[in-house]
Amino acid sequence: MSYLEELEQLVRYNNNPADLLKGLKEITDSRDVTFSTSFGAEDQVITHLLYTHFNNCPIFTLDTGRLFQETYDTFHSTINKYKLDIEVFSPDSDDLKNLYQNQGANGFYDSIENRKSCCGVRKVIPLKKALEGKKIWITGLRSEQSDNRSDLSQIEYDSHFDIIKIHPILDWSWEETMQYLTDNGIPTNPLHKKGFPSIGCMPCTRAIDQGEDFRAGRWWWEQSAKECGLHSK
Ligand code: ADX
Ligand code: SF4
Repeated sequence: MSYLEELEQLVRYNNNPADLLKGLKEITDSRDVTFSTSFGAEDQVITHLLYTHFNNCPIFTLDTGRLFQETYDTFHSTINKYKLDIEVFSPDSDDLKNLYQNQGANGFYDSIENRKSCCGVRKVIPLKKALEGKKIWITGLRSEQSDNRSDLSQIEYDSHFDIIKIHPILDWSWEETMQYLTDNGIPTNPLHKKGFPSIGCMPCTRAIDQGEDFRAGRWWWEQSAKECGLHSK
């Protein structure tokens, strides 16, 4: 049976994320698996679940160089609490040099094209490196986050990155996610309590107002699908 078939079966019988990750540990070689964390609420839940049920699962983060200080603080408290080795992938220095030459430091506000170039250099190219040699990629995506994400399956094949993606808490609500963090004393980005349900790079994320979508604060000046290339199809 292929990994995909085995995982589809696993997901079918284990929709509880703890059981899913326990089962994943049993049927995979941990070196084939990786989890991406941005230290947001969903990722902090998954880090805690992995620590508890799949403690040798490799974890990485993409340090775009433009993150909030609060995100680095959460990174710091997470590795202190769980004694984890989280691999950091950063933009290539020549790519950054070209980006600055082409569009300056804040060119992402000028056009969607510029913004996508910046996300390409700071996120997508480093992500490709992080996924090299991996077969399974665990993420913290939730259906509720946006229309784009509402029809995802808990397990899917991503042809762009040629990898199987698993979203263990896909069907969790925001309230459930935050409650889990509180109940388990998990380090939490303080920006969540200041109106930031979704946290990306500092210059491209603002707090949302009551009634706005979860991702309304991401690239708020754009009329776009609000995806950076990590998860867009
Ligand atoms: S994004 O595509 O808009 O940036 P979002 O912030 O919603 O993504 O996060 C969704 C998932 O993508 C996270 O749960 C995490 O798995 C992954 N992710 C997003 N940003 C990063 C990052 N900087 N480093 C590692 N993983 C990330
Ligand atoms: Fe650049 Fe903004 Fe994309 Fe971050 S979110 S990589 S700063 S355009």
